[in-house]
Amino acid sequence: MLSLHNYSCDVLIVGSGAAGLSLALRLAPYYQIILLSKTKIQESSTLYAQGGIAAVFDENDSIDSHIEDTLIAGVGLCNRDVVTFIAQNARHCVQWLIDQGVNFDKELKSCGQIGYHLTREGGHSHRRILHSADTTGYTVQTTLVNHALHHSNIRIIEYSHAIDLILSKQLGISGHRRVMGAWIWNYTRKQIEICYARTVVLATGGASKVYQYTTNPDVVSGDGIAMAWRAGCRVANLEFNQFHPTCLYYPLNTQPLLLTEALRGEGAWLVRPDGVRFMADFDARAELAPRDIVARAIHHEMKRLEVNCMYLDISHQSKKFIINHFPILYKKLLNLGLDLTKQPIPISPAAHYTCGGVMVNYQGKTDVDNLYAIGEVSYTGLHGANRIASNSLLECLVYSWSAAHDIIQHIPKIDYININHTWKHYSGNVNTNEDLSINRYYNEIRLYMWRDMGVIRNTQQLELLRDQIMSIQEKINKYNINIHFSNKLLELRNLTQVSELMVRCALKRKESRGLHYTSDFPKMIQNSKPTILVPPNYLK
Ligand code: FAD
Ligand code: SIN
Repeated sequence: MLSLHNYSCDVLIVGSGAAGLSLALRLAPYYQIILLSKTKIQESSTLYAQGGIAAVFDENDSIDSHIEDTLIAGVGLCNRDVVTFIAQNARHCVQWLIDQGVNFDKELKSCGQIGYHLTREGGHSHRRILHSADTTGYTVQTTLVNHALHHSNIRIIEYSHAIDLILSKQLGISGHRRVMGAWIWNYTRKQIEICYARTVVLATGGASKVYQYTTNPDVVSGDGIAMAWRAGCRVANLEFNQFHPTCLYYPLNTQPLLLTEALRGEGAWLVRPDGVRFMADFDARAELAPRDIVARAIHHEMKRLEVNCMYLDISHQSKKFIINHFPILYKKLLNLGLDLTKQPIPISPAAHYTCGGVMVNYQGKTDVDNLYAIGEVSYTGLHGANRIASNSLLECLVYSWSAAHDIIQHIPKIDYININHTWKHYSGNVNTNEDLSINRYYNEIRLYMWRDMGVIRNTQQLELLRDQIMSIQEKINKYNINIHFSNKLLELRNLTQVSELMVRCALKRKESRGLHYTSDFPKMIQNSKPTILVPPNYLK
């Protein structure tokens, strides 16, 4: 079944974060799985998650309250049924994670029993975030990776970059094309490979790397959204990119460092350079307002005072409390010469989360038969115009559960594929030289997106940005994508594609709502709808 360039499996999962790994583990008792990772298996946004996972575990909390808080943060654009579906299934999906061995912090409750320590984050009216100190993502990712590495039905292929999906030529009786596998650039072996699969799942994470400043790791470059769009899937709500309000602003630090919202949940203040708090001037919930409001307030103060950052200050809490709750962050900052227990820490907003994505149903099914999208790559309707904190890992868990059920039910009806495809124009000559101009375009597009599609936008800027993106697209088209293979070029192609889709969504929305604030249309309109983009090859 396996040859050097060509292999097959029941389910190909592209991406090894919380979504891909959870799905792989749920399916592995029944099917042969291939799990692709662009670099090392651990590397993903999941690994860096700090705050935690939202779910109702406190008897004074309720699923209705989780639903209401999510709907309020989403500013009228969440799909209430989807929010309900996720909130109702949260507890058993988090319990599944606990059963895998993920240790969440516990404490002695007032009733004298040991229970989970639940932290609080912006927009949540209750303490409902399960966490593992300030390194929840690390605990989740390493636990799941460890299981996947030891499962005989899961084959992990690292340093492999899915380029595009392979589709059937004909539309099926459903009126859709069928996915049959994916083309893969294996950059350890420097060769193109084909993976045939009865079902393919995109779990590639979001697209925040389209921005110059982001909290996300390098692997998160919108590849799944771009691949799905090229394959004929609709995408939605890409104007709603979330900026996390508190990323460390420290020019000497080259790696992004998030200062978790749980700091504010545990009492941290946002202050101006003169040490004065300002959030109450913008929202009655002050530091615990939803992220779109906090990020805009910080941006407003930075512009007004013509400074590069604001400050986050938790030094009024005891040293013991701070080190106990945020041990890793404390150490990382100390290594940079910043003491969380003694001083305000410089912060500014950075791109953090892609609320829109590939349109899917409750089982994570896309517009292409047998193709699923789960996790941050997808648009389920949960987040609306702004994601509430810690609902993202939850969405990964709930959709890996629901997609697994659907795949188990449907896969017996899907034939094995035995077609000898060759790369359409692939000559066998692979040019892996990284031309200097690829780096230049790569930096340019991320700079333009940061400048013109940031926290505040306007129509003129967006139109100019669209032209600049098109000009970069023309330039990269000169590289024959069937011969030139380098990670940078493949990522640049996807970043450019997704940037274009984001700008198109932003130009379509003639109002300001949640994460999309345009100075030309500062008010909200009535009967606002999700922004849906339909690709030219949809159902063709
Ligand atoms: P990821 O975890 O991003 O994984 C994507 C995977 O896809 C990677 O393995 C990558 O290698 C692979 N991949 C991508 N493209 C390709 C390709 N072309 N070919 C092959 N493989 C590919 N959310 C919360 O709910 N709570 C939190 O506390 C929280 N904190 C966060 C803190 C930080 C710093 C960040 C960046 C995010 C945080 N989030 C949090 C958001 C959350 O972590 C992510 O939304 C979530 O982890 C996404 O999981 P995923 O499985 O969809 O994708
Ligand atoms: C954080 O810890 O502030 C990030 C939480 C999230 O993105 O949900």
